[in-house]
Formats: sequence, C-alpha cells, structure tokens
Amino acid sequence: MPDLLIAPRHPAHLDRTVEALRLVHEKDRYPLVWPDDPKAWLTPDSTLGAWVALSDGVVVGHVMLVEGGAVEHADQLAEAAGVPLVGLAGVSRLFVAPAARGMGIASALLERVEDTPTRRGRRLALDVVDDDGPAVRLYERLGWTRVTQGPATWTTPSGTRPTSAAYLCPR
Ligand SMILES: CC(C)(COP(=O)(O)OP(=O)(O)OC[C@H]1O[C@@H](n2cnc3c(N)ncnc32)[C@H](O)[C@@H]1OP(=O)(O)O)[C@@H](O)C(=O)NCCC(=O)NCCS
Repeated sequence: MPDLLIAPRHPAHLDRTVEALRLVHEKDRYPLVWPDDPKAWLTPDSTLGAWVALSDGVVVGHVMLVEGGAVEHADQLAEAAGVPLVGLAGVSRLFVAPAARGMGIASALLERVEDTPTRRGRRLALDVVDDDGPAVRLYERLGWTRVTQGPATWTTPSGTRPTSAAYLCPR
C-alpha cells in the first residue's frame, strides 16, 4: 500500500475512523450492531491508547489498547499470564477497511501496539468471536496463544451468546 503510515490516533482522525468502521460494518457486521454513538464506541473509558493506519490521509485501519479488565475471559487470561488484571492490556477495535485488506495492515497495527511504551510492560491479551475467520487466522499466524473460549458476556440481537476465544501475545 503506497505511503502507509501508522500514527497515534488524534481526535481529528475520529470522523475518518468512523467512516472506515462503517465500511467494515457493512461488509462484515463488525461491530455486529452499529453503535448509537460510534465515536463513543471508539473512545471507551478503558482506553490506554489508539492508533490509525493512514494511506494518503485516508484512515484504512485502526487498533486500540484498553485496560485488561475490559477483555472477555480476563481472569483466565491473567491467571495464564501469571499477572494481576492490571498487568494485562487488551488489544481492541482492530479493523481494516475492506479495500485495504490482505496487505499486512492489521499485522502492522499489531506490531505497533506490541512496541508501544503505552503498554507499560503489560502482557497483551484479546478476545475474538471464535468463528475461524480472518481475525482468528491473523492472531494464530502471528503466534498468539489461545487460553480459553466460552460464551461471550454480550448477546446478539437475536439473543444468542457467540463463543468468544481469548488469546495472549507470546511476546
Ligand atoms: C481481521 C482483519 C483486521 C485483518 O486485516 P488485514 O489487514 O487484511 O490482515 P492481514 O493483511 O495482516 O492478513 C489478511 C490476509 O492477507 C494475507 N497477507 C498479509 N500480507 C500479505 C501480503 N503482503 N501479500 C499477500 N497476502 C498477504 C495474510 O496471510 C492473510 O491471509 P489469511 O486471511 O488467508 O490468513 C480484517 O479482516 C478486518 O477488519 N475484519 C473485520 C473486523 C474484525 O473482525 N476485527 C477483529 C476483531 S477481534
């Protein structure tokens, strides 16, 4: 991708990030239900940091770090990592615009959060819907270790609880 830049997300990026998220939602139903306030969905209280992937000024990808307690199956993740909950940081809201996929942008965003001082030595963790889709393949290809899986704490509009899988970053 020409001129790909990964930068800390600035408030001025939020409108363009929501535009990218809208395209992702329309293609993949991620997030499953379009939030009433997408900017609030991208700026939860648990936020530690956020980054965007920019191509010619267009937001083509996004990732955040959040407090570890915000990750599904947080207690099992902390136990497996051998750290208290505050010793975890969650990778969250990872998405890449449909037209920019398959070029390693998600991998580059994940590398960035692995390297960031924002994590302050915390072990990285995440949860993902256990659907054997591109996200699960991405994390496993990058060596993330599955710790557990089980019903998510949230429900779909039809009232079912999807299975969510929880992973730890090996690095
Ligand atoms: C999951 C997601 C973030 C992956 O983004 P991406 O930028 O396309 O990811 P990558 O480019 O790193 O990898 C995607 C594929 O491209 C391939 N690829 C990566 N770099 C490549 C390159 N330079 N040349 C050719 N193929 C490449 C990868 O092998 C991978 O193939 P696979 O799906 O068969 O395993 C994206 O599909 C997405 O936004 N999905 C919807 C939102 C979502 O589910 N988010 C996760 C929430 S937990």
